[in-house]
Amino acid sequence: MRSTNPTQTKAWERLEAHFADIKNIDLKNEFREKPGRADDFTIQWEDFYVDFSKNLLTSETQKLLLELAEEVGLKEAIDSYFGGDIINKTEGRAVLHTALREHKDAVVNVDGENVIPEVYEVKEKIKAFSESIISGEKKGFTGKAFTDVVNIGIGGSDLGPVMITEALEHYKNHLKIHFVSNVDGDHVHETIEGLNPETTLFVIVSKSFSTQETLANSTTIRKWFMKKAPADAVAKHFVAVSSNVPAVEAFGIETQNIFPMWDWVGGRFSLWSAVGLSISLSVGYNNFDSLLKGAHEMDSHFKNTSFEKNLPVQLALLTVWYNNFFKAETQAIIPYTQYLHRFPAYLQQAIMESNGKSVDREGNEVQYQTGNIIWGEPGTNSQHAFFQLIHQGTKLIPSDFIGFKNSLFEDADHHNKLMANFFAQTEALLAGKSEEEVRAEFRSKGLSSSEVEKLVPFKVFSGNKPTTTILIDKLTPESLGKLIALYEHQIFVQGIIWNVYSYDQWGVELGKQLANNILEEIEKNDISEHDSSTKKMLKFFLE
Ligand code: F6P
Repeated sequence: MRSTNPTQTKAWERLEAHFADIKNIDLKNEFREKPGRADDFTIQWEDFYVDFSKNLLTSETQKLLLELAEEVGLKEAIDSYFGGDIINKTEGRAVLHTALREHKDAVVNVDGENVIPEVYEVKEKIKAFSESIISGEKKGFTGKAFTDVVNIGIGGSDLGPVMITEALEHYKNHLKIHFVSNVDGDHVHETIEGLNPETTLFVIVSKSFSTQETLANSTTIRKWFMKKAPADAVAKHFVAVSSNVPAVEAFGIETQNIFPMWDWVGGRFSLWSAVGLSISLSVGYNNFDSLLKGAHEMDSHFKNTSFEKNLPVQLALLTVWYNNFFKAETQAIIPYTQYLHRFPAYLQQAIMESNGKSVDREGNEVQYQTGNIIWGEPGTNSQHAFFQLIHQGTKLIPSDFIGFKNSLFEDADHHNKLMANFFAQTEALLAGKSEEEVRAEFRSKGLSSSEVEKLVPFKVFSGNKPTTTILIDKLTPESLGKLIALYEHQIFVQGIIWNVYSYDQWGVELGKQLANNILEEIEKNDISEHDSSTKKMLKFFLE
């Protein structure tokens, strides 16, 4: 994969000149003058309708961004990504979460060996195990069927599974799924407090099996369990997902209860592997498989579609446009469904852990902006929280609005209200409200001219706020798989353009080491050298 400083490309130079020309683009005007604008900037693919016409761009912007993608070698990079090349160079690994959703007869080689047979072996194991738990065939140590599952993991070993089990709540079975992630003891104790050890299954998920939070929570849970169950019951109640088999065995989990994963699957992209075991337990293997199928469809779209009609490419280019030219610092993700309430948090890790980098692929400090800040909450709740700032604040916040044509409970009254808000918000963000409109509104309410003039400045909305609308037919395991894969590939494209390694996370590793050092000092009550602020606080904490 080549390394290109994007700012040294011809396309970048042209984009800078073009930006100077259109930075004050008036979207309302663009819509007025170009009746085909909505068609020009909409991509319809399978059950996805993606409209990015309400963004601060023209056809020329799109053309130049596509030139940028060509110039940095995006096409070859995509081939390397899917082909199993070692694109995660700083960790010496391939990046192949896409292989986890490949067809059974596909061939994906890692170090000259086809990994697909092994992927399917693990899928069979996930299927057999989840079906035996759901059906009640596998029982706990007193012969009772399982009622509860606790997923113990953090980061990618938690966020994907928790986001999806919440998102697919409508499809779930009788098993209650709990998640323990934080090393905060209150989290684990609160979770296990009401649980019955006889009917609870514990799934420890840790690729490395060395993560402090997960080991601490697993140890606490095992202790709690051992107080209530005979020693040999652990084999029936604890399973693990990890690529570190010796460490899992040392923890006391039997070999047949270990679900393997591979170093070519990054933590934040691992929900498609056995890390998704709690998803399969929650909604059944067939739904889990449909999720993978959806993601595979998006993979094929990304791999095989021309960049003009390629959803991940177009959405990624837009983020580059805002980040590097408009200097927008953040991007909001607003799903108009309560089911996706954890989606922004999931994307925070996926996007920010991947592209929050300041060193390029040559090891040089970048002289341009990279990863943007991701945040968001579902609509309509967020309309009553932070939308004020998006509408009338001083920051430029490009926002993704994600909605569904059909609701799951088919309550038309509610769904029409929800979607009316969905469409009204993007329209209002585009159109704003002019002084004239405000005046007319007040006059119709009978306010005097002086009263009207006092209030006008506060009621004006400038509009021209960019939004992208992702409208999907229905929230199903398959469409969710597509949606997640859409953002995964967006991350990849951003990383190629920003010329960073998207698949390592050294910044997180540092935090892990620092905490271990301080923990030792706290436990020994012996505070060593720190900056005076930290030292003083540690002493205060220990008093
Ligand atoms: O947050 C850093 C990280 O390394 C993530 O990439 C990963 O998902 C998480 O920690 C958990 O790691 P593990 O699965 O090894 O416990």
